[in-house]
Amino acid sequence: MIRPQLEDIEKVAKINNGKGLKYSILTMGCQQNENDSEKLSGMIEKMNYTKTENLAEANLIVFNTCCVRENAEDRLFGKLGEVKKYKEEKGTIIAIGGCMMQEKHIVEKLKESYPFFDIVFGTHTLHQFPTDLYKVLSNYKKIEDILDIDGEVIEGLPIKRDDNIKASVTIMNGCNNFCSYCIVPYVRGRERSRLPKDILNEINELAKQGYKEVTLLGQNVNSYLRVEREQNKKFEEYEGVNSFATLLRAINKIDGIERIRFISPHPKDFTDDVIEAIRDCEKVCKLVHLPLQSGSTNILKVMNRKYSKEDYLNLVDKMREKIPNVTFSTDIIVGFPGETEEDFNDTLDVVKKVHFEQVYMFIYSRRVGTPGDKMENQIPEDIKHERFEKLKKLVEDEISISNKQYVGSIQTVLIEGKSKNNDNMLTGRTDSNKVVVVDASEDLIGKMVKLKIVSEHMWYLKGKVV
Ligand code: SAH
Ligand code: SF4
Ligand code: F3S
Repeated sequence: MIRPQLEDIEKVAKINNGKGLKYSILTMGCQQNENDSEKLSGMIEKMNYTKTENLAEANLIVFNTCCVRENAEDRLFGKLGEVKKYKEEKGTIIAIGGCMMQEKHIVEKLKESYPFFDIVFGTHTLHQFPTDLYKVLSNYKKIEDILDIDGEVIEGLPIKRDDNIKASVTIMNGCNNFCSYCIVPYVRGRERSRLPKDILNEINELAKQGYKEVTLLGQNVNSYLRVEREQNKKFEEYEGVNSFATLLRAINKIDGIERIRFISPHPKDFTDDVIEAIRDCEKVCKLVHLPLQSGSTNILKVMNRKYSKEDYLNLVDKMREKIPNVTFSTDIIVGFPGETEEDFNDTLDVVKKVHFEQVYMFIYSRRVGTPGDKMENQIPEDIKHERFEKLKKLVEDEISISNKQYVGSIQTVLIEGKSKNNDNMLTGRTDSNKVVVVDASEDLIGKMVKLKIVSEHMWYLKGKVV
């Protein structure tokens, strides 16, 4: 971490010392956004705030925003309306950060309609949060701390993780793909990979602390270090790591870590070395999240995805051939501009052919500044919703068929804790990321346990210790 911020953490900690202050953080985006919130929490707790879920008692409320779809925006504005009264009643500090703050029109709207905020900060200035907060506490007015240029990869931020068995580790920031529907490259900047040494040190440390599972995060994880290689940028290799495949192999050797997951890879970058690493590394889960977006070659082309329906299906076949027990999950968008019934049927066709374990389904949402937003052939809302419901029905049927195949099988499950819905039961996940609940003793928490699956339900399986 950078020195001035460390000093500002100290300064704020001193101001707050003994005051019993509390903070709340509202995380509104993807797993990378959650990982950023863990870093914000790490910094905030070092500044003498303790966490509360109750917004009314918080002295500092931080919003970590997302802008990938319109509903994320609606949620922020709704919540801001709610916290206004706390600001007025007790002077709660309101900080708004994350992806949405990289959009100029949003910051303008905030200033106009929600001018009671104290700090806005973007994705490239997250590490400066202690400095921003120090300025607010020493009576500066409002802080706008947003940069349009790509932030450096900052190492060594304090972190307060949400879980003590599973941990997320960001391996790269940004995205270079510019899929035509997507805002992420505009708000997260260009691809920048963390150094192998920093990632491996972090995971070694997690293993020492007793973590069992790591999820490697990035917008396009299988292009890890690719930009650096292509531009002949010097980077320090460490334990032979110079690509995503070699990174998986190195993490696989770390004692104590039992499971490795990653999201999201891009189908166009799924090279054989990555497929072979998944096959060879016993700790790498055999569930591959392979975002499809659309099953239509025409739509994929306009989306700028750089693969066709056939390429996708061939890749799935190749992985099925090479990786025993491989399973798939995916992301799908319905109602992209110009999507015809025929295009949509191609999407349904891929879903029928691949038999995904899990499908994250989205209705296309226009994002200001993306090519998709400027396309004239937008699909009417009612048709988008009709298609969404049709896809959802198919996916539910597929999942119920897939769940039935688990009954009677033995699965290795990492037990994560008590079930949220039933305190007497434990919950965990299979390699293929299916939730399993089991009636077993609490000392199994954090362990990999063999369970026999005895029944299936839409969103979980029930297991028995064998
Ligand atoms: N980099 C990742 C995830 C990006 S965002 C990837 O490429 O897979 C997560 C998902 O949100 C995307 O996979 C896509 O399915 C969905 N998404 C992104 N932009 C969207 C938009 N404008 N409307 C609807 N869904 C969108
Ligand atoms: Fe968005 Fe495409 Fe990048 Fe994923 S790969 S973040 S969908 S532009
Ligand atoms: Fe994630 Fe949303 Fe940003 S999906 S990268 S928090 S726009």
